[in-house]
Order: sequence, then C-alpha cells, then structure tokens
Amino acid sequence: MDMIKVQNYHEMSMKAAQIVIDSLKNKQINVLGFATGGTPEGFYKYFVQNLKQEQLSLKDLHTVNLDEYIGLSENNPNSYHHYMEKHLFQFLNLKKDQTHLPNGNAENITGECKRYEQLIQDLGGINLQLLGVGSNGHIGFNEPGSSFHGRTQVVDLAPSTIEANARYFTDEKDVPNKAITMGIQTIMESKSILLLASGAEKAEAIYQLMHGAVNDKFPVTILQKHPSLIIIADQEARSLL
Ligand code: F6R
Repeated sequence: MDMIKVQNYHEMSMKAAQIVIDSLKNKQINVLGFATGGTPEGFYKYFVQNLKQEQLSLKDLHTVNLDEYIGLSENNPNSYHHYMEKHLFQFLNLKKDQTHLPNGNAENITGECKRYEQLIQDLGGINLQLLGVGSNGHIGFNEPGSSFHGRTQVVDLAPSTIEANARYFTDEKDVPNKAITMGIQTIMESKSILLLASGAEKAEAIYQLMHGAVNDKFPVTILQKHPSLIIIADQEARSLL
C-alpha cells in the first residue's frame, strides 16, 4: 500500500489524472473502473484535459462503473449514468458499448446484478479501479457490515450516505435508498486500485485504512490486503494520521 501525500483537492485530482494517463500510455489498462461523487470530479477534468494532449487510442478501452442508484432514469441529473456523461463520456470518443454501468432500472434487478458481474469477468477483470471512500468507510456502496466476499448486488444505503448525497438533490426524501454496487470481492479482484480522499470528513476512514484492524465496520480497511493499492490523500484527509 503506497500513499501519495498531497496538499489539497486540486493536487489530488492532478496526480490521479497523471497516474491513470501513464497507465494508459504504458498499455497497462484495457478495463478501467470508475467512481462517481464529489471526489473524482476534479480528476475527470484533468483526465480529459491531459488526454487531449496525448495521442492515445482508446479503441480497446472498456470502462465499468462501481455503482448506480436504483429507480432513477439514466437521464435523471442525479443518476450516475448522467454523471459519467457530464464529467467524462461526452468528451471522449468511446462507443456506447465500451462504457458500462449497472442498470438501476432493470426489470429484473437480481438478473442485472448477475449480468454486470459476468460482464466484468468476461472483460477479463478490472485493470485499475478508481475509488472514493464514504466518511463511514464505505467503498462503492458497500456500507458498514457488508460481506468482504460480496459481488455485484443490491444494497440499502446507510442513513449517513443518504444524508451526505442529499446535497445533490432538491430534497433528502428524493435520494434513492437502494443502489446496485460492485461487491467488495469484485473490487478486491481489480489488479490495482487508486483511492482518492480529500477533506476532513474522510480523515477517520483514512485513519482506519492506515492503522485500524481489517473489519467490516469500516469496509475500506479490507484494502489493506490488496496487493496493489495507491492512496492519494490530501492534508485534511490525513489529519488524524
Ligand atoms: C461513488 C461511490 C462512493 C463514493 C463515496 C464518496 O461511485 O462508489 O463510494 O466514492 O460515497 O463520495 P464523495 O466523493 O461524494 O465524497
């Protein structure tokens, strides 16, 4: 586990973009796992900017996202489909069948979870997975108490996650209380993981990741066992270390 210490959100985002671009340049990535939320927004901005300066072919790239809310249409501004279109896909020359997110509106949600998990396996697994972390230590939407052996599945969002994500919705009541998420086992099978953390509200999760015992109260602690993990954390996120 390596930690790259940066001052602030801006530096975290630039560094992350550089790492992903370098891996693409070195042809280490065919399948890139993406996250949503506030943390990677800056990353996407620099990633798009830096990609423009490089002559990189993305024709063999597939992207897979960690999660999607259940019950929001793809066009809903709060869906993760919409988020990815807005922050990334509209700027890249990727075909529709190169970008993948779970379908939170599938008629058969259990079947959709199976399909998504199988898709990841069929792609040969994830080369590099980008992660944020919840202030309660969740990764993807695997909340405290989640099994470390879980695969893509339907989950209930923790009240603290609903509260944290309410900032994007008009009313907290509108935040879906269920999502489809890659499971912890799915995430752990990624060949490498790049975890980004910025801000004091992530300090406890980062402390637990660096110094806590591996335990399901802080799902992020399982990453201690990952053979190829890079954490980029800013000063505030490191404030309890
Ligand atoms: C998003 C995801 C979540 C977020 C986490 C942090 O796809 O899987 O685990 O990374 O909730 O969210 P932000 O970045 O908004 O603090």
